[in-house]
Amino acid sequence: MKNFWKNLAEKWPILTLAPMDGYTDSAYRQTVKKISPEVITFSEFYSADGLVHSKFLAGSVLPHQEIEKPLIIQIFGKDPEMFARAAEIIEQYNVAGIDINMGCPAKKVVKSWHGSCLIINRDTAFQIVETLNKRSKRPISVKTRLGFNGTESLIEFAKWLESAWAASLTVHGRTAAQGYTWYADFTQIYELKNHINIPLICNGDIMNYEDGMRKINNLNGFMIGRGSFGNPWCFLKDGDMIDHHGNKRPGWFVNGQYMPTLGEILEMMEFHATALVQCKWERKGTLDIRKHLVQYLKWFPGVGVYRKRLVTIESLEVLVQIIAEIRAEFRDHLDLQPLQINSLDEFKGYWGVD
Ligand SMILES: Cc1cc2nc3c(=O)[nH]c(=O)nc-3n(C[C@H](O)[C@H](O)[C@H](O)COP(=O)(O)O)c2cc1C
Repeated sequence: MKNFWKNLAEKWPILTLAPMDGYTDSAYRQTVKKISPEVITFSEFYSADGLVHSKFLAGSVLPHQEIEKPLIIQIFGKDPEMFARAAEIIEQYNVAGIDINMGCPAKKVVKSWHGSCLIINRDTAFQIVETLNKRSKRPISVKTRLGFNGTESLIEFAKWLESAWAASLTVHGRTAAQGYTWYADFTQIYELKNHINIPLICNGDIMNYEDGMRKINNLNGFMIGRGSFGNPWCFLKDGDMIDHHGNKRPGWFVNGQYMPTLGEILEMMEFHATALVQCKWERKGTLDIRKHLVQYLKWFPGVGVYRKRLVTIESLEVLVQIIAEIRAEFRDHLDLQPLQINSLDEFKGYWGVD
């Protein structure tokens, strides 16, 4: 079990879905895994203290489906003992590993000495990884940034974590102070690989598989976050036209990115929404799916009229009805990609553009 990351690294490259608060819940992970079963998914981050004190939180965010396995649960906090107690709870859900958030730059998180603040509180970071390793059978990984303000501490910090038996490391190519500004820079992550032996995964601005392979260099894998918004196809390998059930994919690749057809997008929207409602019940599930629906249709200005209804849906039944209406209206174009439909002469006046 502890060798999870080491074993994965033998099958280069390791593909991971980033932990994203408000996104990578069970339904989101199921959607990505339905298309790319080989991807390792990370949960949203959860407070270690929260999991210990709230049975409700643990009972709502930790259960998951078989399709999501192997699943990594990410937690944040600052107290090694709380991490260890949270790990005991997480382990009851049969997950593959536990990841520690040492990268979140949000003011609220940093002020509480959590997240990226652990980069400068190196002793606490060490104790958390070491304590968790002693008390948990699961591999303990860390996700961090190039540094807090500057990047000069990266190698030392990573070696420090490795000496506490961190099982793998994911580095977002920006400092905490940079937030999301400028571009992710992987130069120092490539250099770091020469100094540590544990699997090293890069993260930041990677849009899809092809982009990841262009940037992976000497590393063990890459992680995609925002590139997966409305695009659970982002991990597909260029030219991989047969799915894992042996069926031919209806869409095709453009510049390395798989472009799904409208029919496929609608199917995936329905799958995602159904999974979300199953996980979170109707009310919360339909509220949470709204932002995803818009992202699925971002290349399709033609459904402007539907989009307004999609972002205000109140039930799965209404969503299924809207999807059926789109299918009926675009029945002759379900096997085209949204951008192609937009450029069809018959629709040019329809969208209000010439
Ligand atoms: C909405 C959102 C929520 C995020 N939540 C988390 C989180 O819970 N834990 C974490 O380690 N990083 C979190 N991140 C950071 C991402 O995991 C990732 O490091 C960052 O977005 C850069 O990768 P990308 O350019 O592929 O998105 C979040 C990012 C976004 C956009």
